[in-house]
Amino acid sequence: MRRPMVAGNWKMHGTRASVAELIEGLVNLALPGSVDVAVFPTSLHIGLVAECLEGTSIVVGAQNAAHETGQGALTGEVSPGQVVDMGCKFVLVGHSERRQIMGETNSVLNHKFAAAQASGLTPILCVGETLEEREAGKTLEVVGRQLDSIIEELGIDAFVNAVIAYEPVWAIGTGLTASPQQAQDVHAEIRAQLAKENAEVAQGVRLLYGGSVKAANAAELFGMPDIDGGLIGGASLNADEFGAIIRAAGN
Ligand code: 13P
Repeated sequence: MRRPMVAGNWKMHGTRASVAELIEGLVNLALPGSVDVAVFPTSLHIGLVAECLEGTSIVVGAQNAAHETGQGALTGEVSPGQVVDMGCKFVLVGHSERRQIMGETNSVLNHKFAAAQASGLTPILCVGETLEEREAGKTLEVVGRQLDSIIEELGIDAFVNAVIAYEPVWAIGTGLTASPQQAQDVHAEIRAQLAKENAEVAQGVRLLYGGSVKAANAAELFGMPDIDGGLIGGASLNADEFGAIIRAAGN
């Protein structure tokens, strides 16, 4: 049985005041014990959030970490080891905003994924197609290539300690959610692709759906057999809405 997981990606949102308010809302939520919950603040706010959530069941992750494990001369970056030192357990790798806007390639992401694991973090690998790719019937080809890149470079065992998030780019921040069946179809293909290499790894890995998940559509999405939870953007900035999504994953 895979344990459900709900992760909140705060993206480039938050001030000291708004982050403190959001944390206060989160710690006051009555959360089901059956769901793993993680939040991903900006790098600036990781320390504050980790401190405030210490002793709660909510863990902290980073939205990004460098492709090298050690410290060194790399202006503007944080290393995965530093992220661990600040209290993080997870790191996002390959979010579409970083692939598209920051130009991160599969090759760079392979290094980031490996460096994260070598530092003791669990990477959440984000994959997904653009609207153009979906309309051209290329969804599975695109997602398949993003996964294959890790498998070819690091081997299937890299997914023993990892999470995968399917986030169709056209559904991110647009209010357009993939239908539960559309999401399930891609999730099933992802699992099948992993199963070709190792059935046990494929069965064990958690596959989250991301893209305009809200309290109103979470239960239906999470009810699908290969959807093990969600990676939530906008709706994770509201503690009550996020709490309702987490409860939907626990049912
Ligand atoms: P939204 O939930 O705002 O669509 O964002 C999804 C996402 O990109 C999470 O990483």
